[in-house]
Formats: sequence, structure tokens, C-alpha cells
Amino acid sequence: MRGSIEIKSAEDIERMRVAGRLAAEVLRMIRPHVRPGVTTGHLDALCHAYIVEQQQAVPAPLNYRGFPRSICTSVNHQVCHGIPGDRTLKDGDILNIDITVIKDGFHGDTSKMFYIGEPSVLARRLTRVAREAMFVGIDTVRPGATLGDVGHAIQTHVERNGFSVVRDYCGHGIGREFHTEPQVLHYGVPGTRERLEPGMTFTIEPMVNAGARHVKTLRDGWTVVTKDRSLSAQWEHTVLVTEAGVEILTRCDGDDGDDDV
Ligand code: MF3
Ligand code: CO
Ligand code: CO
Repeated sequence: MRGSIEIKSAEDIERMRVAGRLAAEVLRMIRPHVRPGVTTGHLDALCHAYIVEQQQAVPAPLNYRGFPRSICTSVNHQVCHGIPGDRTLKDGDILNIDITVIKDGFHGDTSKMFYIGEPSVLARRLTRVAREAMFVGIDTVRPGATLGDVGHAIQTHVERNGFSVVRDYCGHGIGREFHTEPQVLHYGVPGTRERLEPGMTFTIEPMVNAGARHVKTLRDGWTVVTKDRSLSAQWEHTVLVTEAGVEILTRCDGDDGDDDV
């Protein structure tokens, strides 16, 4: 039915838990490799090998609509969908790594920020506020809440801190497909849009800019950057609506500390 959001079965949910955990474990695996002097292409190669060989899973970005690598790496003023390559990370950079794996037919999608050496006070505050914004959104998820409530909570937190929310990209329903209904906007009006029910799975992945919210895509056809070249930060979890509220599917031990960047 057009306009409806899929409700996962108990079996689907169990597979979503597995895919989500695997995606989170890739972020944990890559952590010690994210250092000054390393290239984003090397990080991609490590993640690709880990997903394919250790996890026996599929890196969803590879060949997705023509994307040429297995992960997305977005540095500094890059907002999302950065293509790993020969760029060398340097002291003071901030980096988002976005991992999506497919296991047993289901997707798990998660991203986080990493500090390279010691970024500026602004870069660290932006990273923290983006992370808080994601969790403020997650905390709003429960049966009966609406996606407008979620977007409003995120937008309010970001703007109260003097930053802006990117509007051109959003979270998404996820399951057997990478991107499906609903669109999860990271801004909005309370009480509007879809009402949440147990069994729905979607991502929350706010992109937060230090300057204006406007973005553009580079000529590689993928890399999204801030128009004003201000810094941008993003965090992402895949979540399940439960009777009690929400379950984060892309968590793994040790990825929930406040200083975990
Ligand atoms: N993982 C991204 C998301 O959060 C999508 C990446 S699509 C790609 O939805 F093709 F760029 F990999
Ligand atoms: Co996503
Ligand atoms: Co993602």
C-alpha cells in the first residue's frame, strides 16, 4: 500500500539486530586505525576486508547507485557520502565514517565522528552537539509519537546551540532495502507526519553544520559539502520502535561513552 511503513516480523527484527550489531562492530574495529597519516582509502580497504571476510556480510554502499567504495568517509566541511581515496588524514581533522552492512538479507546502517589528533574547540563542540541531537531524536521515538516530533526535537537542540540542520538529506526506513519509507527529516513540527508503531525500523542521522544549512554536491557526483565551507558533523543509528519505546539496533559494547570520538 502506498504511503505505508512496513512493520517487521519477529524474525525480521532478529535479523535486523544481527545486521545492526555487525555495522556497529565495523566502527569499533576501525577506531584504532583512524590516525594522522592514514588515507581514507586505507580505512575503506580495512573495513571492506573485515565485512567480507570476518563478518561474511556485504558492504551495502559498494556499487549502490554507482558508489565506488564500501564505506563513506566525510572530512571536515564534507557533510556526507565522501568517497574514500588517497586523501591523508591530518591532525585537527574531524571525520565521519558511515557503515552499512547487509547480512542475511537485512541492512544495518550507522555512522560516527572521529577526531584526528586534536581538533579545534569548535569542531569538538559541533561533533558533541550533533551526537546529542541524534540521541534527542532517538529519545523521542515511542509508539504514538510522530516523525514530526522527532525532527522537531533534533532541530531545537541544534539551533539552540547556534548550529544548523541540513535539510537536503534525511534518515530513512531500512530493512531488506537500504533506503525506504519513511523519510526521517531532522527538522519539523510536533504532531505532524507519520505516527510511529512497534515494529518500524528506520535511521536517525542528523547532519549538523557550524554555518548555514546549505549544501552542494562535488563534481565526483557524490561528496556533499557545506556551501559556505563550514564544518559539518553527523552521527547515525538504526532504531526499532518497540512497545516500550525504542531499541537502538546499531550499538555495540563500548560505543556509548560521551568521549567516544
Ligand atoms: N549510509 C548512507 C546513509 O546513511 C548512504 C550511503 S549511500 C552511498 O543512508 F552510496 F553513498 F554509499
Ligand atoms: Co542511513
Ligand atoms: Co549511513
